[in-house]
Amino acid sequence: MLVTTKQLFQECYGKYAIPAVNVFFMEEIHGLFSAAQKANAPFIVQTTPFARDYAHPEMLLAMIEAASSIYPDVTYAVHMDHGYEEHIFDAIRKGGYTSVMIDASHDRFDENVKRTRKVVEKAHEKNISVEAELGVLAGVEDNLTIDAAHSFYTNPQEVEDFVKATDCDSLAIAVGTSHGAYKFSGGQGLQFHILEEIQQRLPGFPLVLHGGSNVVPEIVERINAAGGKIKTDAKGVQEDEIRKAIPLGICKINIATDTRLLWTMVNREFFRDKPDEFAPTTPGKIFMEEYERFIIKKFELFGCTGKA
Ligand code: G3H
Ligand code: 13P
Ligand code: NA
Ligand code: ZN
Repeated sequence: MLVTTKQLFQECYGKYAIPAVNVFFMEEIHGLFSAAQKANAPFIVQTTPFARDYAHPEMLLAMIEAASSIYPDVTYAVHMDHGYEEHIFDAIRKGGYTSVMIDASHDRFDENVKRTRKVVEKAHEKNISVEAELGVLAGVEDNLTIDAAHSFYTNPQEVEDFVKATDCDSLAIAVGTSHGAYKFSGGQGLQFHILEEIQQRLPGFPLVLHGGSNVVPEIVERINAAGGKIKTDAKGVQEDEIRKAIPLGICKINIATDTRLLWTMVNREFFRDKPDEFAPTTPGKIFMEEYERFIIKKFELFGCTGKA
């Protein structure tokens, strides 16, 4: 069943989190829907503007729709990740998404409010949920690179005014994560004191964690053993941090880096071990199966297994 993120968050708040997985191609969509059907877990399938440029928005949405009839028992939302007005208004006109993110987090507070408010007005007319963002994460985000000096944590003193003024349905916050494989290279970890203060000021309001990948050390080691050169200070959000963040209001956890690392591992190992092979479908099949297993483990960690 296709639902909004607002509906998913009403069920999960404080108890479990929903994985929001970025997809770019067919094998990921199969793996994600198949995992959800087996685990009976709710999920969010999301696309960035980069993914839309790569595959074409119509291709992505058609594949997602096809997956929903191949795997009919799943409960899911279709979300636009890191959207700007041009993508969002196009999506509102053409349909397919039940949720959008307006990423105006790089603007000043007033401008962020103004842009978010306008998106909320148009989206709510079509029963589409809106995720907004306050604070700036470091790292690579689609094709925008933010260095550490230009990133900043969400200011808890601004969150109530922001949510009231915009009427957004969920809020992405910057509490120490970054996009990509090098989140906690300095060892800083999630800033729980900031998260706690945000929850106190917005009790019951759904919060979103971007940069939610774990960056599994075994996967990084296997990539490097198969010829990759991922730097060894790669580090992600730890499992105990995820468990601790859920009762503090984190309802949606975004994942892109982890599945990209998984793809890299499968393909590097495959072509290292079978240098005479050239059929994309053989590693593609292995990837779909590995992906499904990987997502089922995320459902377990986030507590959403059996909750669809
Ligand atoms: O922030 C959004 C995604 O993590 C970035 O997607 O893989 O195209 O950079 P990407
Ligand atoms: P990761 O880079 O940790 O996978 O984060 C993805 C993300 O936040 C997409 O919006
Ligand atoms: Na942002
Ligand atoms: Zn993000």
